[in-house]
Amino acid sequence: MSLLNTLFEEMILRSKRWFELDNMRGFAHRQRLQQVGFRRAEFMSKPSIAIINTHSDISTCHSHLNERADIIKQAIIAAGGFPLNLPAMSLGEVMVKPTTMLYRNFLAMETEELLRSHPIDAAVLMGGCDKTTPALLMGAISMNLPCIFVPAGATLSGYFKGEKIGTGTHTKKYYDELRSGNISQEDWLALEACMTRSAGTCNTMGTASTMTALAEVLGFCLPNASSIPAVDSAHLRMCRSVGEQIVKLARDDYKPSDFLTLENFYNAIMTLKALGGSTNAVIHLIAIAKRAGIDLKIADFNRFEQIPALANVMPSGEYLMEDFFYAGGLGALLQAIKADLFLDTMGVSQQSLGQNIAKAENFNEAVIRPLNHPIAKEPLKIIYGNLAPEGAVIKTSALEPRLLKHQGKAVVFENYEQLAKNIDDPDLEVDENSVLVLKSAGPKGAPGMPEWGGLPIPKKLLQKGVRDMLRISDARMSGTHFGACVLHISPESFIGGPLALVQTGDMICFDAKQGRLDLMISD
Ligand code: FES
Repeated sequence: MSLLNTLFEEMILRSKRWFELDNMRGFAHRQRLQQVGFRRAEFMSKPSIAIINTHSDISTCHSHLNERADIIKQAIIAAGGFPLNLPAMSLGEVMVKPTTMLYRNFLAMETEELLRSHPIDAAVLMGGCDKTTPALLMGAISMNLPCIFVPAGATLSGYFKGEKIGTGTHTKKYYDELRSGNISQEDWLALEACMTRSAGTCNTMGTASTMTALAEVLGFCLPNASSIPAVDSAHLRMCRSVGEQIVKLARDDYKPSDFLTLENFYNAIMTLKALGGSTNAVIHLIAIAKRAGIDLKIADFNRFEQIPALANVMPSGEYLMEDFFYAGGLGALLQAIKADLFLDTMGVSQQSLGQNIAKAENFNEAVIRPLNHPIAKEPLKIIYGNLAPEGAVIKTSALEPRLLKHQGKAVVFENYEQLAKNIDDPDLEVDENSVLVLKSAGPKGAPGMPEWGGLPIPKKLLQKGVRDMLRISDARMSGTHFGACVLHISPESFIGGPLALVQTGDMICFDAKQGRLDLMISD
């Protein structure tokens, strides 16, 4: 360690307030670390690095994180740091009821308080399953210590009877086929056993893959880290590099406030579009920006309309995250839109975004399409209208194009219980042109804004071959799902938003190009 580093640590290391106190408290802190076998020299005057680890036995997407934490620890020690494993709430998306969204801010608070209350100088944040990424970033930004995010990585591609199948996307597709009698119960059970082949997050461009990619473009990951499959050996090597780099960031005191700007968030919005990514990113990016004191607005998501969806990954496209990685990953995607990106933005690599992606190449233009052959133009839109005066969102890259402009009669469900009870009622007056409406599914109404917004197609329509309809609600939807679903209608119905007034039989008009959602009455 250089003299300069030593002098700098004298000034900046928070952990000195615990370990170098010349009193009874300092004695107790040092004594307790020696209780577990650390020698004084192992923690005195070294940056203490927290590994905030969201592993748990029920968080299956994160089942490999303990092994990765061990690698990160070794690398931190080798680089001259003192690693401390601090487990945090795991939030496995599929297992948590009623919805992980109720707990995102809990994990953010937990992260912030773990960092604040302990002798920590910098942090490695380990997550990936949907809410864990925004939650860890939110907490770390509020605490504003040097930090690097380690994306869990996606699970390997699934195959069923020779067909490539994606987590979430094919669960929903095959469930519709089961309900319409096109596949057997035996097939359905066989599918269960072959959809997720390894540790890792959903392998589609759902909320997990979207948010880890956005964490990277915001500047919180090492280059291309978010594209590495969970069980690829490159993931282990990335973890080693993280261990090394976090010690450097701690010594340099290189914090989120040193690199986060509005332009980092604009890059994230452009990337979201090029990914054909999850609508949930709108909610999470605004929350992350607020923690940094950056005024990102919902209307900002309608900027950069020149950026089309280029990632041919389910649910908008045909491939999976493993293919995306082999095609060159996020770096290759960013190369395609680099003329629009703010390339001078910085991040934890301590290089600019332009430097990070300079050597990235696209090895498969079927998976990462070139600009002149996109998956969809204007893949995500914030829409307004008398039903959504404060906005709503739709992912236009993942729906049947005939529904981009649609007018139909409302079939209203006052709440989720009513929807579950009546959607398959053979006497339900509904046809393929109807607009399914769900109320009381927002942040206060549900509560917690669950992913109920991909309302099921009524069974009798499934049996007629209908696979998409216009559906509107104040709920969210899984990023892995497909369909013409207008989501996050604001203000929500429960607090008196206009959605509350819609009745069955009312005419609703939706126009994605114009960005409008209206009840056909005078304003
Ligand atoms: Fe964990 Fe989808 S369930 S990422």
